[in-house]
Amino acid sequence: MNYRGPYRVRADRNMPMPRIEHSGDAIVRVTRSCICGSDLHLYHGMVPDTRIGTTFGHEFIGVVEEVGPDVTNLKVGDNVLVPFNIACGECVFCEQQLFGNCHESNPEATAVGGIFGYSHTAGGYDGGQAEYVRVPYADVGPLVIPEDMDHDDAVLLTDVVPTGYQAAEMAGIKPGDTVVVFGAGPIGIMAAKCAWLFGAGRVIVIDHLEYRLEFVKNYAQCEAYNFRSLEDPVLFIKKTTDWIGADVCIDAVGCEAAGSAFHTITGRKMMLQSGSAIALHWAINAVKKGGIVSIVGVYGPTGNIIPIGNVVNKGLTLSANQASVKRHLPKLIEHVRAGRIDPKAIVTHRVPLEEVADAYHIFSAKLDNCIKTILIPPSARK
Ligand SMILES: NC(=O)c1ccc[n+]([C@@H]2O[C@H](COP(=O)([O-])OP(=O)(O)OC[C@H]3O[C@@H](n4cnc5c(N)ncnc54)[C@H](O)[C@@H]3O)[C@@H](O)[C@H]2O)c1
Ligand SMILES: [Zn+2]
Ligand SMILES: [Zn+2]
Repeated sequence: MNYRGPYRVRADRNMPMPRIEHSGDAIVRVTRSCICGSDLHLYHGMVPDTRIGTTFGHEFIGVVEEVGPDVTNLKVGDNVLVPFNIACGECVFCEQQLFGNCHESNPEATAVGGIFGYSHTAGGYDGGQAEYVRVPYADVGPLVIPEDMDHDDAVLLTDVVPTGYQAAEMAGIKPGDTVVVFGAGPIGIMAAKCAWLFGAGRVIVIDHLEYRLEFVKNYAQCEAYNFRSLEDPVLFIKKTTDWIGADVCIDAVGCEAAGSAFHTITGRKMMLQSGSAIALHWAINAVKKGGIVSIVGVYGPTGNIIPIGNVVNKGLTLSANQASVKRHLPKLIEHVRAGRIDPKAIVTHRVPLEEVADAYHIFSAKLDNCIKTILIPPSARK
């Protein structure tokens, strides 16, 4: 996959073959990769320093093709799932299992760590929407896929399931809580599903795409509402919670939220703020006083116009981060094994890697009832 500029990607047979650059690297032959809502922020030109000629893709699995001399946990031929975070495993943040905030893997930033295929603001690593990818710190992130695990489930454990799970975890859900999830994309769907694992008493999902609301209602056994028909989603949530507000709100939308002309014009069109923060705005105003807002939707490095005064006056705890995938994998694999989470059920499209340009267009424009797309390189189709 070769990024050519906003709304333009193509499949390119002349991309350079990745090589071992450090003794701890591995080269992985990709067997499946996904397109994520986060890739759309890149595709739409919202992320600074997204360079022409780079390859996206932070959700991928594959077969180890080659390892550097210092790699001890992997061997050639292993089937691995690779967390989207690139983490050294040894810095002060990795030691606290904050793998999304590694201090070594992204020399350009003091906030986020390295991420595969996510611009030079996340370290400038090429991603896995490709036939081969270089995986740095190969002893730290990759996990050998258990024999009994479906590979569609495995690729969804590189980001979607852990991120939805962490959104619910950061929300500090207590038994019986009313949880409102903004966004019915793959991340919101998983957050709603995982909210029950933490003991939620009521789960409400808000979006404006009917086909996704229909899906999440069945998949996560929750209530689902279209904000276009609610008039004011904040008022609706207050009304349905006896005017208390939700116990917790989860933002699984991020910087391309629809629903406010003001935010769309200033944030997405004129770029006077880093995208639209209207879903976060609703989350802050719809949560109860003393409540928790958990944010996994992505916002850019520059500022947003959000109701920060209300954060203070309501005494809110905001909880946000990139998911630290590796920390969640052991327990999530158990949930998948036990059938409590069925990740692959959200996959709607399986597309040959050569048709990556069409795949981006379909996912970005939300055509053909698309929820989650898996790209399959030629070698994995033989
Ligand atoms: N923190 C992390 O580790 C992490 C990991 C993966 C994805 N993300 C982010 O999570 C967000 C969701 O990812 P996704 O893959 O589900 O994306 P997606 O684009 O498939 O889904 C986003 C959904 O939000 C809906 N939406 C738009 N405006 C809304 C509003 N005002 N209120 C409610 N819903 C609204 C859209 O209709 C869409 O269904 C993105 O911002 C993505 O970058 C974060
Ligand atoms: Zn992702
Ligand atoms: Zn680190």
